[in-house]
Amino acid sequence: MRKYHLSLFVFILLLGTFAAAAQEETPSLRDLAEQNGIQFGAAVYTYHLNDPTHVEVLSREFNSLTPENEAKACEVQPELGRFDFRDFDELVAFAEANDMIIHGHTLLWHQCVPSWLENAQFSREEAINAMRDHIYTVVGRYKGRIAIWDVVNEGINDNGAGVRETPWQRLIGDDYIELAFQFAHEADPDALLFYNDYGAEGINAKSNTIYEMAADFVERGIPIHGIGLQAHYTLGSVNAGSLASNMQRIGELGLQVQLTEVDIRYPGDTTDSILRQQATEYRMLLQTCLDNPACTAFITWGVSDNFTWLRGTNLGFFLNTTVQPLLFDDNYQPKPAYFAVLETLAEGAGLEPVTDAEEATEEQVTAVEIPPPTKTDPAQLAPDSVEGLVYYAPYPVTITLDGDTADWANIPLVTVDSGTMLPPDNDTVLTFGVAADEDYLYFLADVQDSVLSYGNHEAASGWYMEDSVEFYLNTTGDLAAFAYEPGIVQIGIVAANITNPETPLIGGSNSGDSQIEVNAVETDYGYRIEARVPLTTEVWEIQPEHLGVLGFQAHLNGASTPDNRDTKLIWSAADTADQSWNNPSLFGQLIFWNVEQ
Ligand code: XIL
Repeated sequence: MRKYHLSLFVFILLLGTFAAAAQEETPSLRDLAEQNGIQFGAAVYTYHLNDPTHVEVLSREFNSLTPENEAKACEVQPELGRFDFRDFDELVAFAEANDMIIHGHTLLWHQCVPSWLENAQFSREEAINAMRDHIYTVVGRYKGRIAIWDVVNEGINDNGAGVRETPWQRLIGDDYIELAFQFAHEADPDALLFYNDYGAEGINAKSNTIYEMAADFVERGIPIHGIGLQAHYTLGSVNAGSLASNMQRIGELGLQVQLTEVDIRYPGDTTDSILRQQATEYRMLLQTCLDNPACTAFITWGVSDNFTWLRGTNLGFFLNTTVQPLLFDDNYQPKPAYFAVLETLAEGAGLEPVTDAEEATEEQVTAVEIPPPTKTDPAQLAPDSVEGLVYYAPYPVTITLDGDTADWANIPLVTVDSGTMLPPDNDTVLTFGVAADEDYLYFLADVQDSVLSYGNHEAASGWYMEDSVEFYLNTTGDLAAFAYEPGIVQIGIVAANITNPETPLIGGSNSGDSQIEVNAVETDYGYRIEARVPLTTEVWEIQPEHLGVLGFQAHLNGASTPDNRDTKLIWSAADTADQSWNNPSLFGQLIFWNVEQ
């Protein structure tokens, strides 16, 4: 009798549980960061220093400080030629007194533009002189004391199409960026000079343009030393694989890369499950940084939720006045995200947790008996599935990606019509099947859905808010793994592939590793997706053998109105809260069935 292990997601409070030789006290984030060779920072306003608890947590946990606003042009040079460094000086003094690195943010930005600059009628030469004066004065004042400068912030257009229009760009031209790097270098030849931006964390049009600009600077000897990735995320949008690829190519240019403004927001109320998801995403981001030697800092955009910039203002994404995007809550209590970060740093530093994750997971394992495989129809190529637990996938069989289901005729198909989100009169049903031949694993998703809604999102982000199907695989052999790693993939296949026969539009954790091919067609009752992944890729070697097991899961996302998911169907019974995207231990099993045996 086979046992099925439903490994519940376990969040382990590890504070105080690391067995560190000669280390009796709980290590701080900054100690552990140092042991990992990275800076661990936070953005701070001068007025935050009036709060003694803030000061206490900041100086205990962080070894890098970014002025949240104090270094920006409208603050330091409110009138042409009149500089005001009072607030900035206070932050610098605090950082120095507490042995913190200062991340100088930022010399040039299209926001916080002083009115003299906004309305300037300079010639190109006058503008270059004014920009040089600004940079020389600010960088020069703190020469030797500010280790890193964000020379230009957000200087590239969101769609990646070249340099953003800003006052300096208008007056000087696109080369204001390289001139700024040169001037900053002249003012402090020892400072590390960064280009910083948002929405360019993973590989996309914008990060491509930034990468090309940086590569060009490196080639021409323009003094640039790193790229800052802001990393303001919405829960669910962290794509660690894509981030890792981007970091990789930046590192290959000989540049540093830093996560400079990390926070993770979400639209609704705060729940335990949201805080756990947030912790997982913090962990993924930090782990991705630790995995690449070019990544030298992890900086959160604030210390505690009470001071987050995301509250109270509609910043163009959504207004959530109670959002808790940081590591410490409103009362400076460490949150699940804090413990996830602490644990990740401790592991990175080679400290052995006393309660290790596996042990704790094992304790919570529930064993479920799986009935012996049976076929209810002799023509069936494999036994019936066990609802929500096991899918028997026949091999070898012959399938073509042609939109026609004739070749799926004797392959067991499973119907899924329940999940975590269902509209009152739900009419959406997912029917899926999986099979293999010698070279590929094939998926069928035949979806009944009266209203198709797709094409409003890019595959890269928000894809799961519209009609889409997700297949998940864990090929590592460790079905209890509770975090994504190479060999574990979530492959979201959007219905938008119906109108996109070329490169498949996909999303999800590590989905880019899957090398999936997709054929999507509209049907009389909805849509149908046939897809296949190679049995051998860079990240896995799947060898179907009789009764061999993979971790497997299937989901469906449905939207009846654009941009607005109202249906979530889930196959694996272990996943009761739509958590498979961050916790692969909630998958069920796919068991191979040799049709020739
Ligand atoms: C924000 C500050 O957090 C706010 O308090 C201020 O009002 C506006 O600027 N990307 C950046 C930061 O690079 O400079 C921004 O900081 C947040 C987004």
